Amino acid sequence: MIRQAIIPLAGLGTRLLPLTSVFAKELLPINGKPGVEYILDECIEAGIKEIIFVISKKKEMIRSYFNNDKFYKQILKKKKDKRIKEEYKKIQKYKKMIKYVYQNSPKGTGDAVLKTQKHIKGKFFLMLLPDDLIIKRNCSKDMMSIYNNKKCSVMASMKVNRKTVNRWGIYSKKAKINKNNFFVKDVVEKPNISSAPSNNAVIGRYILTRRIFTKLKNQKKGKGGEIHITDAIRKLINDGEKFIGHSFKGKYLDCGTMNGYIKSSQEISKL
Ligand code: G1P
Repeated sequence: MIRQAIIPLAGLGTRLLPLTSVFAKELLPINGKPGVEYILDECIEAGIKEIIFVISKKKEMIRSYFNNDKFYKQILKKKKDKRIKEEYKKIQKYKKMIKYVYQNSPKGTGDAVLKTQKHIKGKFFLMLLPDDLIIKRNCSKDMMSIYNNKKCSVMASMKVNRKTVNRWGIYSKKAKINKNNFFVKDVVEKPNISSAPSNNAVIGRYILTRRIFTKLKNQKKGKGGEIHITDAIRKLINDGEKFIGHSFKGKYLDCGTMNGYIKSSQEISKL
């Protein structure tokens, strides 16, 4: 059973400026609910019991949001509002599950994961990138069933327009398992269009073996000067570690860009 999830939240959110100039992007409302709560709900429904938030000093706002008991208690003392009471209950539920670790300089997703090492207890853990929302289907839950069956690492995959391959991690496939799953031969971070092995992109849901930490410790900076989880995964695959690519059902929403963020609220309001 996988019981722990990591959510990297230290990113600056420059693609969403000016909204993120004083505000954490993961708390921005998407159809009336902070984006990160969709991710938390997905984790909880998939059976996760503990969630490790990787934040930075600049993102303390996230911690305050989940630890604002005094404020809620004061309000509820004066005003017996049923809706606020329910919201507070929900926040309390999240609060009990969340642990915080710090990544004060934004060195990349790989570095964020490495910061959580001493908290990870099991052989495998889940990692979710909060910019990537998947609606209509719980992708993490589906990946958990694959893991329970195959006991190996699993990553989400989606076909993208060839012209955009340099924005994603891109898979090369080894063998088809069935309609929605394949064994990964290789994965490369943001390749040029001419050298991309396919148009199957990595989407931000990963079930990873804790062996990733040994690779991350020695991981050098890659594309854009960041330490990428993709590069460490690549090394594990080279060592013979099994990775399954899962073409998820459900709809992908990119909340990390302004257009995507606006579209997310529209799509979710239609549900
Ligand atoms: C990250 C990963 C990339 C993946 C993408 C999915 O990139 O490094 O491999 O395809 O998330 O959203 P980022 O969005 O941080 O540039």
